[in-house]
Amino acid sequence: MTDERPQIRPRLLEIDRYRPGTPAEVIAAQYGLNEVIKLASNENPDGPFPGVVEAVAGAVERSNRYPDNSAAPLKEELAKRHGVLPENIFPGAGSSAVLQCIALAMGGAGTSAVYPWPSFVLYEILSKIAGTEGVRVQLDSDHRVDLDVMVGAMRHDTNLVYVCNPNNPTGTYRSRDDMLALVDAVAPSVLVVVDEAYAEYAIAPDFGSLANVAVHRPNVLVLRTFSKIYGLAALRIGYAIGHPETLADVSRAQTPFTVTTAAQAGALASLPHDLAGRRETNRTGVDLIEHSLSRLGVTFAPSQANFVWFDSGIEGEEMYRLLARRGVVVRNYGIGSWIRVTIGSAAENQAFIVALEGVLGS
Ligand SMILES: Cc1ncc(COP(=O)(O)O)c(C=O)c1O
Repeated sequence: MTDERPQIRPRLLEIDRYRPGTPAEVIAAQYGLNEVIKLASNENPDGPFPGVVEAVAGAVERSNRYPDNSAAPLKEELAKRHGVLPENIFPGAGSSAVLQCIALAMGGAGTSAVYPWPSFVLYEILSKIAGTEGVRVQLDSDHRVDLDVMVGAMRHDTNLVYVCNPNNPTGTYRSRDDMLALVDAVAPSVLVVVDEAYAEYAIAPDFGSLANVAVHRPNVLVLRTFSKIYGLAALRIGYAIGHPETLADVSRAQTPFTVTTAAQAGALASLPHDLAGRRETNRTGVDLIEHSLSRLGVTFAPSQANFVWFDSGIEGEEMYRLLARRGVVVRNYGIGSWIRVTIGSAAENQAFIVALEGVLGS
């Protein structure tokens, strides 16, 4: 026997692997707590809409059959929702899987991808997986994606740009006009991915989706997910909206049958539901948390999403631990004393505020 074993591509060893939020049960055991509130993964506290669980259960009964790879009924409904055509829709196993297709389709040696920092960490991880050089662009002083600097950061080998709008983890946004200016400033050979995972939560009057732009511009793709406002994170379903030829190109990197029958059924059953109620409930939570942070003298970035980015004044890892000990799990990005807290139920939001007051000694 030797110690020799197959070696993976060396660049993959650079990946600081995506760390999902620690499960509540693990934290509970660690600190001897009866109840732990998880506000770490931007999940929806409300769960699936009425009727969705039944639709998913019905689909699971057909699990001996492969899924409908065309996802035709879902594409049709999504197309209606966005005022586009079914061929403008490309579903995947979560928008993460769509992002992976894009990264693999565009990446490889001799390419680079530009993305904001901090932003959704998958842009960087996928760049490494795809063998693309990742170029981080720091946010502006208001914690917004700095679109001008991003344009300036593009290199001769850049063929992919990610913009998260609203941005995770800061919750800040860029207006539709700003996004249009970005798209105009980018060469047609560069694919602009506008990740709108949190768009349904945004209420700012000048926020707007780029979906209707993407369908006409082969170098723009918009990404949406059912994991957030629809409350289907575990089912794994998201989609891109764009030009049919770009979607066909990107789909070459997708394995067959990636979107399960259950996920398609759950998404379809979710679509008729009105999102306004959930948007308003979320806003009530954002307002409460932002007001509480102000009262405690804590700096935060104004949020258009279902989370708030705040400067806890205590080093991130330490703050994470102090809150976890009080039964509230948040997300530490390792960026100074900044922490991200997800909006939970009314009781969970209250529990977070009480825990934070406890830590800050108010
Ligand atoms: C900005 C952003 N994009 C995409 C995703 C991935 O979503 P999905 O569950 O659809 O893979 C997330 C998840 O947190 C996210 O924050």
